[in-house]
Amino acid sequence: MAGKRIIMMGPPGGGKGTQAKRIQDRYKVVQLSTGDMLRAAIATGSPVGKQAKSVMDAGKLVSDDVLIAMIDERIDQPDCANGFILDGFPRTIPQAEGLERLMAKKGLKLDAAIEVRVPDEKLLERLTGRFTCAKCGEGYHDKFKLPKKAEVCDVCGGTQFSRRSDDNADTVKTRLKAYHEQTAPLLPFYERKGVLKVVDGDREMSLVFADLERILGL
Ligand code: AP5
Repeated sequence: MAGKRIIMMGPPGGGKGTQAKRIQDRYKVVQLSTGDMLRAAIATGSPVGKQAKSVMDAGKLVSDDVLIAMIDERIDQPDCANGFILDGFPRTIPQAEGLERLMAKKGLKLDAAIEVRVPDEKLLERLTGRFTCAKCGEGYHDKFKLPKKAEVCDVCGGTQFSRRSDDNADTVKTRLKAYHEQTAPLLPFYERKGVLKVVDGDREMSLVFADLERILGL
């Protein structure tokens, strides 16, 4: 996995973040989640955060220019020298073209774009049941992944948890629409480039991970 540069794609709640984090933890390749970066920008009240807040709350996509600039700067950081996993970027054709340009400029090659495929009808339950440890960010689910000890984080022992404001039924509907209209066209884009791999994400998390390891030759 060292030196690999991959994109995790798939619908909201499909398990991109869950699987990217597992790869990061096991193979020490950094996960770059644009959703997390934008939420951090909102938390600090930066100009990007101010611009992104209402767009994200509505379930729509933040502007391509903001995202491309964010990734351009982020992948120059030393922790990306060993490869990276893009989680939630690119999400539109202009973002994919922007990524191509900036990687060419930096002399980097994309190894794989992975689609974590999950049927729409499974996603609402996944998203509305999701919660994370407020201290370390470990992800959980009301049904699919509860902490071993009730209300205590398995990783850091924290006892405060939070839920995302965009994980409600109305916003999920808009996020899914944005996925099908703006992001799904990237699948044929990467297929034509010969880097698209598909993993069945509608299975138990460790089975999905085992498939990813096999597909990526890890
Ligand atoms: P972002 O944070 O990227 O959200 P998203 O794409 O909607 O994806 P999620 O994080 O909701 O889902 P996931 O696939 O990572 O699922 P997870 O692993 O957590 O983006 C948020 C917003 O930011 C966007 O709407 C947009 O406004 C903006 N934004 C971000 N990037 C942008 C970009 N490039 N351009 C423009 N705007 C951008 O899993 C979900 C739950 O299911 C968890 O509880 C998990 O435990 C559970 N789960 C995972 N896998 C399984 C499994 N196999 N079986 C059962 N449960 C599972």
